[in-house]
Amino acid sequence: MDHIVIRGGNRLSGEIPISGAKNAALPLMVASLLTDAPLVLTNIPNLADIAQLADILRHLGVEIALEGEASGPGRHMRLRARDLTGAEAPYDMVRKMRASFFVLGPLVARAHKARVSLPGGCAIGTRPVDLHIKGLEALGARIELDAGYVVAEAPGGLKGGHFRFPMVSVGASESVLMAAALADGETVLENVALEPEVQDLARLVVAMGGRIEGIGTRTLHIQGVSRLNGATFEVLPDRIEAGTYAMAVATTGGDVELVGARYRDLEALGDVLERCDVTFRATNRGIHVYRNGARHRGVDVATDPYPGFPTDLQAQLMAFLATADGVSHISETIFENRFMHVPELARMGAQIEVHGQVATVTGVERLKGAPVMATDLRASVGLVVAGLAAEGETIVNRVYHLDRGFERLEEKLSRCGADIQRARA
Ligand code: UD1
Repeated sequence: MDHIVIRGGNRLSGEIPISGAKNAALPLMVASLLTDAPLVLTNIPNLADIAQLADILRHLGVEIALEGEASGPGRHMRLRARDLTGAEAPYDMVRKMRASFFVLGPLVARAHKARVSLPGGCAIGTRPVDLHIKGLEALGARIELDAGYVVAEAPGGLKGGHFRFPMVSVGASESVLMAAALADGETVLENVALEPEVQDLARLVVAMGGRIEGIGTRTLHIQGVSRLNGATFEVLPDRIEAGTYAMAVATTGGDVELVGARYRDLEALGDVLERCDVTFRATNRGIHVYRNGARHRGVDVATDPYPGFPTDLQAQLMAFLATADGVSHISETIFENRFMHVPELARMGAQIEVHGQVATVTGVERLKGAPVMATDLRASVGLVVAGLAAEGETIVNRVYHLDRGFERLEEKLSRCGADIQRARA
């Protein structure tokens, strides 16, 4: 099995191109189920999760072709769901990736029935799907659980309805807003997630002829239409990838421009880095990150839904704060089991104590390289960030987690001076 070998201690300098966002591309691909016309997505990242969702969509009857370049903004995906041949997303396919569950809403909206396996995905807590289900029930879907499957039916089609999400959920907001676009009449959704990926999905639905008001606010008014058209739409830059590289530069010290990154999507990270004496500024091409040799300060941070600090950057932040001057506290408010990287960072000499949802990080002068085990996508890249700054060799095992969400990771980092390679066991 592949692993990644890092010899830490090199400062990073140069530029890193930021890829299209995985978490934006996945729901945009799912939106292809809403129409029989072609949907073309540009700036599609080349990632295992994208290929996995493409397989599930093909299984449902979507024709999918990749066009253009092998990576970067010129990589296009053309999707066409002319007829939905199967309205079932089976366990074997869905278990590998939670986002594949998001097909439930569009399927029941267009095919009036769906059978979707309960999801798997990263092992970061129980991650229920009750909000997806309650939201679709508010649009008139009848939903039952049957042997690990969610079975949804709306014989006469979905009807507009009113639903207030009791907590902010990215996936449930996406699933229900897509379904409402094809429902009969008006839907009002309250407490909708504000993540840029959710906003962009709503913009795609509008580009397809959907009628949505309130994009960028917590309340959406969606006037259902009987048919949506095709569209061409660009996947936004990956704020989590950009934030991860920002944290790598902040941890090793260095000077890097994140080309293509959008500053406005990462203001919460910018605030944290500036509080730690790291420069994080918008440029006309992206974001400039700079830290001189001096040791950075510790800080207290809580993860929160957007525009708060993203949970998907929490592991990378912890790797950064492990060598800060002073004590930091990190509160994880989104997922109840998202500290699995802590024992691995401890193997590298980090001093971290966890009480409930709060990790107390006492900064040490330097981490030491060690063999470590990736447990989920973001945790594993947190270990890479730690390894880049650690003394000696770090070996990150279970690299398949990284391949789900980071395109050309070793290449992008080594071009900036990191000593990082992929090797076969
Ligand atoms: C998405 C992101 C993921 C990110 C997360 C939070 C994608 C493909 N994935 O995941 O990278 O970490 O947002 O920013 O975009 N919840 C329920 N019931 C539900 C749904 C969610 O209780 O039906 C809870 C979850 O357990 C969690 C919280 O709501 O505690 C937020 O989860 P949610 O925003 O739904 O995350 P995902 O959409 O799965």
